Amino acid sequence: MDKDSKVSITVIRRLPKYYRYLGDLLKKGINRISSQELSKMTGFTASQIRQDLNNFGGFGQQGYGYNVEELHNQLGRILGLDTVYNAVIAGAGNLGQAVANYKGFEDAGFKVLCLFDKNPKLIGLKIREIEIRDVDSLEEFIKENNVEIGIITTPKENAQDIADTYIKSGIKGIWNFAPADLKVPEDIIVENVHLNESLFTLSYFLKNRSDYTT
Ligand code: NAI
Repeated sequence: MDKDSKVSITVIRRLPKYYRYLGDLLKKGINRISSQELSKMTGFTASQIRQDLNNFGGFGQQGYGYNVEELHNQLGRILGLDTVYNAVIAGAGNLGQAVANYKGFEDAGFKVLCLFDKNPKLIGLKIREIEIRDVDSLEEFIKENNVEIGIITTPKENAQDIADTYIKSGIKGIWNFAPADLKVPEDIIVENVHLNESLFTLSYFLKNRSDYTT
């Protein structure tokens, strides 16, 4: 892909889904797939899929389709999954511990090095092998350990302070679970995960079932 060209965020948000389906196909030993077959699996139209992938150079061949392994590898590279990222978690309560406990993130190359909390009762405990430290040492730890991703699982009242500390320490990517709209400079990437919003959307569709057609 041309470094200067911008791919739309909606295309980028579809890539992890392609990547996941291609991974499933690989596990089943399937090595070739057409955009029509990918369309049936993903729910996106075949032309949408071709257009999406064309943003990055295409990869498919007319009459052949896509080589699953090659496309999976290429998408992995595009998504940066060939890199190992160091991460820290601020807020070692229910959610912070659950995120630290999930080995799947580490398997995908996102390594949680440490959790941080202000509650003295938590400091010194370990989640798997990952230690909980005093949040006062957060900045120093980030600077010394080449941390690229800061995860926020504190209450919303503390989320902006944590984000500011992350930014001050050199972090460029924030994975924010707190229900707070963070204010950050332009070069900082924030990905918000709000399970509530997804649940409320589900609630809407349940409540308005008769109006909703797929
Ligand atoms: P919790 O109360 O179990 O954990 C919060 C932890 O943050 C506590 O251990 C507390 O001592 C710590 N903390 C508070 N201020 C701090 C600071 N300045 N620095 C470091 N640590 C600090 O809460 P829970 O259930 O884990 O939720 C955490 C956050 O995640 C909340 O903002 C909650 O609204 C949000 N949440 C988001 C979800 C989502 O879908 N994004 C789902 C569930 C919770």
